[in-house]
Amino acid sequence: MERSAPTLTIQQLAAHRGDYGVDAPLTPFVLGLMGLLLLGSGLFLIWLSGDWRAGAIFLLYGLVLLLSTASYLYTTRRGKFLLWARILVELQLDGDEQVLDLGCGRGAILLMVARLLPQGRAVGVDIWKSGDQSGNTREATERNARLEGVAGRIALYTADMRNLPFADNTFDLVVSNAAIHNIPHAAGREAALKEAVRVLKPGGRLVVADINKTRQYARTLERLGMVDIVRRGLGWRGWYGGPWVALRLVSARKPILPR
Ligand SMILES: C[S@@+](CC[C@H](N)C(=O)[O-])C[C@H]1O[C@@H](n2cnc3c(N)ncnc32)[C@H](O)[C@@H]1O
Repeated sequence: MERSAPTLTIQQLAAHRGDYGVDAPLTPFVLGLMGLLLLGSGLFLIWLSGDWRAGAIFLLYGLVLLLSTASYLYTTRRGKFLLWARILVELQLDGDEQVLDLGCGRGAILLMVARLLPQGRAVGVDIWKSGDQSGNTREATERNARLEGVAGRIALYTADMRNLPFADNTFDLVVSNAAIHNIPHAAGREAALKEAVRVLKPGGRLVVADINKTRQYARTLERLGMVDIVRRGLGWRGWYGGPWVALRLVSARKPILPR
């Protein structure tokens, strides 16, 4: 059988039928609420007390917070799909790979990968924290997999990414989006990366997008013996509220022979 992943455009891969919730839903809620309160206070100051100067300052801050909320919601609902569709297309998968998604949540990235794996398998690992993604449950991910038509290509594990239930050298590709930063301490994040490297096959690739600590991830990966380490920004589609909370991508390869 010829090895090849289906040829999909970035737009086709990013299109989805499932519902993938909102990442860290409390953040846009608080940002939006504060924006509305400031906007309301600004209007109140201008119209009722005639204080144009104070009113304008409140209006300005309110608008900034509302724009920040809009940017956040765009990234979580649309931007990350487009970014990852491009990343996955550029990986030029053969279609028979074993792929692991660390902190898969409701499956936004996991199920896009699965669409590219007619002969392979996409494995998702998560502890399903609802504070990290709205409606975050294993059942929601399974429902999304059925809606995307890839239920037969995925496997889900309830497991902590610092302690993966897989043998060494199992996966051709390990991906992760906006998940590793949720681990509270540097030692924990390092443990997750160490596990990712352990379960990668020699020659396998690691691709991690996250909102902070990516410089630290690159340094850790170098210490773990990974090669071809590249760190880069992903642009405005990866802004969770603004350029100050932006997704960055770290990619690396496990050497065939240990360094
Ligand atoms: C912001 S969500 C992102 C989910 C998914 N990657 C996406 O882009 O839609 C972060 C995810 O990481 C998961 N998570 C946090 N800490 C984890 C850990 N130690 N092990 C496994 N998953 C974890 C959360 O449950 C959540 O599903």
